[in-house]
Amino acid sequence: MATTPTQLDRTKIAELTAREAQRLNDATRGSERTYAQARVHLAGGVASSYQLRDPWPIYMERGSGPKVWDVDGNEYWDFHNGFGSMVQGHAHPAIGAAVQARYSSGTHFAAPTSDAIVVGDELARRWGLPKWRYTNSGSEATMDAIRIARGHTGRDTVMKIFGSYHGHHDAVMISIGVAYDAIGDRDDLASLPYGAGIPQAIVDMTVAVPFNDAGAMERRIERMKSEGRLPACVIMEPAMMNLGVVLPEPGYLEEVREITRRNGIVLIFDEVKTGLCIAAGGATERFGVTADLVTLAKALGGGFPVGAIGGTEEVMACVEDGSVVQVGTYNGNPLCMAAARANLEQVMTPDAYATLDRLNERILEGCTTVIEQHQLPGYAVGVGSKGCVTFSPSRITDYETFKANQDVDLCELAWLFNMNRGIFMTPGREEEWTLSVTHTDEAVDAYVACFEEMAFELTR
Ligand SMILES: Cc1ncc(COP(=O)(O)O)c(C=O)c1O
Repeated sequence: MATTPTQLDRTKIAELTAREAQRLNDATRGSERTYAQARVHLAGGVASSYQLRDPWPIYMERGSGPKVWDVDGNEYWDFHNGFGSMVQGHAHPAIGAAVQARYSSGTHFAAPTSDAIVVGDELARRWGLPKWRYTNSGSEATMDAIRIARGHTGRDTVMKIFGSYHGHHDAVMISIGVAYDAIGDRDDLASLPYGAGIPQAIVDMTVAVPFNDAGAMERRIERMKSEGRLPACVIMEPAMMNLGVVLPEPGYLEEVREITRRNGIVLIFDEVKTGLCIAAGGATERFGVTADLVTLAKALGGGFPVGAIGGTEEVMACVEDGSVVQVGTYNGNPLCMAAARANLEQVMTPDAYATLDRLNERILEGCTTVIEQHQLPGYAVGVGSKGCVTFSPSRITDYETFKANQDVDLCELAWLFNMNRGIFMTPGREEEWTLSVTHTDEAVDAYVACFEEMAFELTR
């Protein structure tokens, strides 16, 4: 960036935040009432702690295409899209028709149906991995993938990227999120539990390394090898999607592929967020590096809870021979498989990715222009349907740079600004937008206009 970023006035940010928070509170009194009712028997008034928000969550009523409406009747363009699951837009007619047809033929047998086979064939084609299994969520997919890696290698330890989220099971609820101030030296990052209830023995079995630093990964692997605890797997997002959007530096994924292969470590690409959202074959296609195992969920089900694990013949052999027990009553549920099939065959087609790429380019360009015109400390970054404005004076490449540079106050203000102007965004500074195939120029221009208004008020 050629210009020096404006030094933002912190008092003004605080004033604008107070004003916008009041405005949102006034507009969401129905959510306030619903919250009071919800808290009686729903713990915290929500179904998942990620839905919590002060002073109350915004309760949604319905969605159609690129829009959602809350219980107060407020209308929003949806850029949250269910934590990036609804890249098809809400209530897509093709998925609706498939689910309706399936419902009248029965919805659950705990025996395979033909849709499960077709979905597996299509995923194999897109990801270049021959063997697939299903789960009901991203967490189940990463949990089972780690077990498969352990079964395949006969080893216990897990290597992950510091700050990366892979779901809510013990082995990966370690060194994630933005909770930590002291993370340790780059070559010796700490294993820190994310919340209570995770046994220390499990914490000690997961080791974290920085993103975009193949050297640090290799050194840690060498050390673990000398300690007699070579990892079973490296689990990672090829592009980090929970520190805003952090793209892999050129050559990084190739180096990781080479290091893991050389050491006989199973490489797991967790594509729960990137898969089906940034290309037909996810990050694997986009960046041209293939892992041993891939995990999918979110956008795969088109609004239904479906996860999947794909793998090489060699690694998935332990599932096929029964030595690793990969199971689940609802795995491959017919309703979910009908939705996934319609999603893959009729919605997330090559045309869909061309649309998403074009829209994302438009929104990224729009945000970049606003940043340059107002000399804001930040930059716009994205890939496929995903992107964000990262409020940081310098480029974020890993957890350390994110933690050191991200502007928490500005992120909170941006979210409130969006909500008050009809833009439903994922709350949290670590989140990004997800576009859907039903978004239009009008939708992304509305996002940019809202950002422009905030930039104007901040810098006038
Ligand atoms: C990269 C990644 N992996 C796994 C998960 C867990 O998926 P789920 O919430 O469906 O269990 C998430 C959820 O946000 C995720 O972002």
